[in-house]
Amino acid sequence: MAMGARRKFVAGNWKMHGMAGSLSELQPIAAAADASKSVDVALCLPSTLIARAADAAPTLPIGAQDCHQAEHGAHTGCVSAAMLAEVGARLTIVGHSERRQDQQESNADIKAKAEAAHAAGLSVILCCGETEAQRDAGQAIARVTAQIAESMPDDASADWLTIAYEPIWAIGTGRVPQTSDVAEMHGAIRMKLRDLIGEEADAMRILYGGSMNGGNAAELLAVSDVDGGLVGGASLSADKFVPIIEAAAGAS
Ligand code: 13P
Repeated sequence: MAMGARRKFVAGNWKMHGMAGSLSELQPIAAAADASKSVDVALCLPSTLIARAADAAPTLPIGAQDCHQAEHGAHTGCVSAAMLAEVGARLTIVGHSERRQDQQESNADIKAKAEAAHAAGLSVILCCGETEAQRDAGQAIARVTAQIAESMPDDASADWLTIAYEPIWAIGTGRVPQTSDVAEMHGAIRMKLRDLIGEEADAMRILYGGSMNGGNAAELLAVSDVDGGLVGGASLSADKFVPIIEAAAGAS
């Protein structure tokens, strides 16, 4: 695949936000997604909203934010990929830094989750990212590329797996890395993907996530090897999310 031929992909991650009333945001988001034909858009919602969201906005891919690695079993409180697919999820995030931290998920866990999601027919957004201390110590690229090497399934391909680079210190803080640092990291991720999966790496999308908003999206999405965004806070309302979709269309 020629460089530059990757379609931009903007995914929202509502995290633990959203009640039934929030579904009114979906219609304008779906309309913007339908209108911007050059951009793929998805929303990863709390599990409780997935079925209703998939019904309410059938053209908008709705995803989950995690899945369990087992098909079923004695895992109180967990949800399997097949269960998510059954209620209308088309994708799931795995390996978000909040889960790596709050649930102590390891790279091996995340790899198993990605494999389980793929087996259930879901696409996967696989997250990676360094802490501020790791960046300050000059270890950011080594840590992120190691996360990918250890958590990406061996048979990963661009038609079902997307990488999301989210520097932990930029999540929810309003701080965004220099575009030169984003370019350096995304370039390093692309090189690591080439080591791992060969030419397929050139088709795989690498999203940036961390305080992306309508004001900075155009600049971030123009950076080399940035193929879209994984958006937290600014995906919660159509007012804030639609401008990011439009910026991605403009950068396509
Ligand atoms: P914010 O856009 O709120 O910084 O969150 C980013 C993120 O963690 C998306 O997964």
